[in-house]
Amino acid sequence: MIMNTIIDALNWRYATKKFDPNKKVSKDDMDTLIESLRLSPSSFGLQPRKFIHVTTSEIREQLQANSRGQPQITEASDLLVIATKTNLQASDVEEYGESIMQTRKTNEPISEGDIAKALEYKAMMINTISSRTQEQLKGRNQKQAYIAMGVLLTVCASMGIDACPMEGFDPVKYDEILGLNDLWLTATVVIPVGYRAEDDKYANAPKVRYAKEKLIITK
Ligand SMILES: Cc1cc2nc3c(=O)[nH]c(=O)nc-3n(C[C@H](O)[C@H](O)[C@H](O)COP(=O)(O)O)c2cc1C
Repeated sequence: MIMNTIIDALNWRYATKKFDPNKKVSKDDMDTLIESLRLSPSSFGLQPRKFIHVTTSEIREQLQANSRGQPQITEASDLLVIATKTNLQASDVEEYGESIMQTRKTNEPISEGDIAKALEYKAMMINTISSRTQEQLKGRNQKQAYIAMGVLLTVCASMGIDACPMEGFDPVKYDEILGLNDLWLTATVVIPVGYRAEDDKYANAPKVRYAKEKLIITK
């Protein structure tokens, strides 16, 4: 499907309830979707989330049993889970600083214009993390998962690929099934991607959004 504009694409997309289990997303398109997750922005650039591409059907069945039985988990072509880091710490800032220095071939661990400002900014980042509990950081980190999901949904729409954002699942069970506890991660959002079934009754339902007058505030 060719999308004329991004707005057409966003009107076309919907939270797909029924996927066609016979239509598969190509490997190239899956690579593009996964790359869009990788490229999504995050606070301070720390990327405190990982992306799980669940390819084993037995695992998808176990996940479905812990997602209120929602059929998209097993019927969609592919299943992506975004998991949030549960042990963000000062060493993550160090690792990110190393990554900036290597990538940009600079001695500034954070891009701030000069080395003194960069070191000051890095100290502020470490202080921000060290002064918060992991519970407080979890909320902050989970926001970064939702940003990635938003990017993914937009890219899916622009490519004519269907998706359903989902948080109707049991994260404790997901963490067990996917072995996320050992990796200091917790499942935050789940996105099945694929192609809508012809008889999904929601596919052509008018989009329900409040009018601009109710949503947009101009000052
Ligand atoms: C964070 C989040 C969680 C959601 N969880 C579910 C879910 O578990 N199952 C589901 O069928 N839809 C889920 N939805 C889809 C919303 O119900 C849907 O996006 C909303 O009703 C707007 O409709 P539209 O996306 O079709 O335009 C979720 C959406 C978001 C953004």
